[in-house]
Amino acid sequence: MSDARPIGVFDSGIGGITVLKALRAALPHEDLVYLGDTARLPYGTKSPETVTAYATQATKHLLSHDVKMVVIACNTASSVALEPLMRALAPIPVIGVIEPGARAGARATKTGRIGVIATEATVKGGAYERAIRKAMPEAEVTQAACGLFVTLAEEGWVKGEVAEAAAKRYLAPLFKGRNAPDTLVLGCTHFPVLARTIGKVVGKSVKLVDSAATTAKAVTEALTALGLQANRKRKGKTRFLATDSTERFARVGGIFFGEDIRAKDVELVDIKPG
Ligand code: DGL
Repeated sequence: MSDARPIGVFDSGIGGITVLKALRAALPHEDLVYLGDTARLPYGTKSPETVTAYATQATKHLLSHDVKMVVIACNTASSVALEPLMRALAPIPVIGVIEPGARAGARATKTGRIGVIATEATVKGGAYERAIRKAMPEAEVTQAACGLFVTLAEEGWVKGEVAEAAAKRYLAPLFKGRNAPDTLVLGCTHFPVLARTIGKVVGKSVKLVDSAATTAKAVTEALTALGLQANRKRKGKTRFLATDSTERFARVGGIFFGEDIRAKDVELVDIKPG
């Protein structure tokens, strides 16, 4: 038995393409539909109620593409809205990125001191701290909200003096003193494209982890457990949807995807209710 329906992947913008890329590599035979709610980005500065409403509308739109599973490739939406989204989309399974990211952090640390950088909403919600403690009860978790990284990533300014100055300003307080973390979780799907700049600021001894690969693993396991895999002999397609400028999505999204995305291959969609 195989299931050729696509997997829906969603983020507030193009950051979730870092997760999409890992899914593409792990599941080359699956069709993927990626939706970036670029018209309403950023989510990270908004209230849990607003993020939940936006994320529910976006993921419900994915249902109109007959998806067999939804991956919330956004830490902010995963941290404040995973449960409501699971309820809203049932019986379609929904997978978030927080638990996989937390597991990756717990696996990487040697000292038990884990730093998490994320959006303001993710930090305030405390979901990472809870998930890391679940994976490693003795862990010491310190967090910092780095909202400007989202803007820098969406602008494509992932290296150079502006990105470095922002990284220094955000990260210096987290890494001062002898009890600094040895592992830094990039708790926002926009941040992996800034990894080189972040690494330069925190130094080589700090391990940077993100949830892309571990989420791809969780999705692979869930597809198998639920009997939802597509036939391994087929070649999967990737489809892009955006709620604002398809040209911008293609231009900057290519940086995240690691290969060119053509604007004519991005569909503009309206997901607002009514
Ligand atoms: N990419 C999203 C995340 O992982 C957030 C970006 C935003 O603020 O919209 O948290």
